[in-house]
Amino acid sequence: MRAAIAMKLRDKNLIPAEDKDVIVLNGGMQGLFGAFQSVVNPRDEVLIFSPYWTPIKDLVYHCQGKPVLVPTADARRDGFEATLATYANDRTRAIYFNTPQNPTGVVFTPDEAHAVARFAQERDLVVIADEAYEDLVYEGEHFSIASIKGMFERTITCFTFSKSYAMTGWRLGYAAAAEPWMTGLKKTTLYSSNGVSTPTQWAGLAAFTNHSNILEEHNRAYRERRDRLLAGLNELGLTCEPPAGAFYAFPEVSRISGNSREAAEILLDRAQVATVPGVVFGEHGEGHLRFSFSTSLETIEAGLESLRRNF
Ligand SMILES: Cc1ncc(COP(=O)(O)O)c(C=O)c1O
Repeated sequence: MRAAIAMKLRDKNLIPAEDKDVIVLNGGMQGLFGAFQSVVNPRDEVLIFSPYWTPIKDLVYHCQGKPVLVPTADARRDGFEATLATYANDRTRAIYFNTPQNPTGVVFTPDEAHAVARFAQERDLVVIADEAYEDLVYEGEHFSIASIKGMFERTITCFTFSKSYAMTGWRLGYAAAAEPWMTGLKKTTLYSSNGVSTPTQWAGLAAFTNHSNILEEHNRAYRERRDRLLAGLNELGLTCEPPAGAFYAFPEVSRISGNSREAAEILLDRAQVATVPGVVFGEHGEGHLRFSFSTSLETIEAGLESLRRNF
């Protein structure tokens, strides 16, 4: 399993990993948990592009570290190195780099990854890369920051079978890292789940060595769902840019309510459409709702129809 993963990392992600640099884990979450535990000491600060995936803040708090939110929109407007510099200090230890991003669907470009890498190298920071949605990219291309020269040594990259292969319930993922991070990942795994079950690993290997077009087919299906949902939301005045990756739309919803918790309640009560309030992804997500298109076209159509009837 580790040999198959290492080969995939080298061929597809251009990450120079050998078998020893790979650990098989219970989903992407166990990789992230182990990564933060391996890197962050009490009072260390972690730079997190925001809006961010909700659990990350708690993973940092669990190490008694301090999450520091860096608005992605500012970085894209003012430059990554300049923006990161505004939020960094001598307590900064790591950068959480999630691409494609949950909840916004932002896919960082290779130039943006290079800028973050330069910053990490200058300040001697560790990068915790979360590439859970690597195969769900609709605009641009997925790029692994650990593939940049000199970055593998300071990057822990976390992957999962949950999204690419829709194997969420199998609880299977993996991470790539060099020492000393690999020892940290091994310890957090040993003392928590003590490893991934053998049948699950065989299932993962089957997914990996399956030569069908399953990843392309999934990508095409998600793209169709994305386009359908986006068209419907824009028609309703819930405007947003088409997400470049992942499987969420993150429209601005002030025409319903500026308070995203209230907006989510209104949609649920009036149209029986469940969304996630943007504020749970940090202050920069307020005023937005997250809609998932990880569901059938029929469900998406039914949800849009209900919104049309009730708004
Ligand atoms: C950004 C991101 N990273 C990691 C994960 C972890 O997924 P899992 O633990 O199912 O592999 C998720 C799941 O939603 C996610 O959105």
